[in-house]
Amino acid sequence: SEVKNFTQDLIDWQKKLGRHDLPWQKNRTAYRVWLSEIMLQQTQVSTVLNRYDEFLKIFPTVERLGAATVDEVLAQWSGMGYYTRARNLHRCAQSVMTDHDGVFPSDPKVLESLPGIGRSTAAAVAVFAYGKRAAILDGNVKRVLARIWGFDQDLTKTLHTNQLWSHAENLLPHKKSDLIAYTQGLMDFGATHCTQYQPACIDPQKGSCPFKKSCVAYLSERINQIPLKVKK
Ligand code: ADE
Repeated sequence: SEVKNFTQDLIDWQKKLGRHDLPWQKNRTAYRVWLSEIMLQQTQVSTVLNRYDEFLKIFPTVERLGAATVDEVLAQWSGMGYYTRARNLHRCAQSVMTDHDGVFPSDPKVLESLPGIGRSTAAAVAVFAYGKRAAILDGNVKRVLARIWGFDQDLTKTLHTNQLWSHAENLLPHKKSDLIAYTQGLMDFGATHCTQYQPACIDPQKGSCPFKKSCVAYLSERINQIPLKVKK
């Protein structure tokens, strides 16, 4: 089916052309994965690469992060912006210590109840740290899925975003051993190939797109219209 082809093609793409050497891809503890995902929510990979190891040196465990003052955490976050993230990071570490015996939960629904962790971040932590079967859907992934399937509904509407969530869940590989490559593949393909402007299908400098022959947005020349976001 087209679903199975997409999933396997993306896994193959990731193994060949995705990123394999990011610091948070080695020693995948829940604390390391969670920290990387919070940093990457609103900060580019190139910036996070310059800050990740030092942050972990100062706060090597969730216990040490929770025991710090919020001002110490904010100071270490300086330059990355969106300081609500740093305040939630601190609150989340405290909640893990007091409400979860110092261990990050593995259930995405429980992760989602923690400060600063939304549905997609919860899924990323559950997949990368615990090997769970859960779907991510951040801005990059919305763009990839909407384009390939020609989903041209207004994504500021909850109903339509929920339809894309269902689609994302249907696309998950059935083999648990494929989940990490698949999930990292979605992130990397959206960030480096299926970019908002000048994606790989129209800019060969970015490489070739394995979905060109079936991508509805590309075939109907609507790359610039999909995903649709209606400004309020
Ligand atoms: N963006 C969000 N999460 C990421 C990850 N784990 N690797 C690369 N880019 C990301």
